Amino acid sequence: MSIGYFNGQFIDLNKAVLPIEERGHHFGDGVYELIRCYNGKPFMLKEHIERLFNSAKEIKLKIGQTKKEIEQLIFEGIEISGLLNSDVYLQITRGIAERNHLFPNVPVSISMTVKPWKEMDASLREKGIKTIFHPDERWANCYIKSLNLLPNILAKQTAYEKGCFEAILIRDGYITEGTSSNVFIVKNGKLYTTPLSNQILPGITRMAVKKYAEHLQIPLHEEHFTPEELLDADEVFITSTTAEILPIVECEGKRIGNGKPGDITKALYEEFQRFIEL
Ligand code: PDD
Repeated sequence: MSIGYFNGQFIDLNKAVLPIEERGHHFGDGVYELIRCYNGKPFMLKEHIERLFNSAKEIKLKIGQTKKEIEQLIFEGIEISGLLNSDVYLQITRGIAERNHLFPNVPVSISMTVKPWKEMDASLREKGIKTIFHPDERWANCYIKSLNLLPNILAKQTAYEKGCFEAILIRDGYITEGTSSNVFIVKNGKLYTTPLSNQILPGITRMAVKKYAEHLQIPLHEEHFTPEELLDADEVFITSTTAEILPIVECEGKRIGNGKPGDITKALYEEFQRFIEL
């Protein structure tokens, strides 16, 4: 069963609990994580918690709880939900206080939902997705998993309205990432992905793919690449907690490679499935 949590209480998802004077609501003043559970086990939980605490530190948000306590809260939520395959969405904001830009001296708010995740449309996985290019209109600190997602939402909606699944963002002539995913290309048997910097989110699935590539002995280069290089690639795919490893077969109406999910993408996805079964 789907469940919610807000500041110490497990609640029905539809119960109204958020006070109007809440900084997540007023300013998007907070950070979040989305963690997927396979067979009751949260995938790469330690890495998600690390990133959450790092995001919090970077916005000067002092979480009163320890990493261990947050981890326990997540496990408690999973247990109460009784779900084996769930998405855990955890959000921490700068708390409940009268609207004022300056930091209030109040405890942070912690909210969480645990819900079943739906298997992605099989045809998207088998046939691959269509994408568009879009200018990266986000701020300078995209390595922080901040609640402020307006540019991401607007670009994703534009993609959707053009019949596409994802918008691939471009900054200063280079690909950064997707609106909610990291991007990889394959050229001549080698993998390329945008290097970590303040311009992209250090994706947990991206980190997993690095490990799988090493295991499969596929060379991986963390290098910038252009939209032209993406269109000219043999294979392209995105990675994220919800999309996992998802092939891109078209961008801006142009076919990528032979227009079908490529062998390296498939091999990495098989490796991913092997790891989640462990
Ligand atoms: N997306 N880049 C951005 C901007 C994201 O929002 C996400 C996550 C990623 C991939 O990160 P990870 O592999 O840790 O999920 C990259 C959300 C949570 C999703 O769609 O899953």
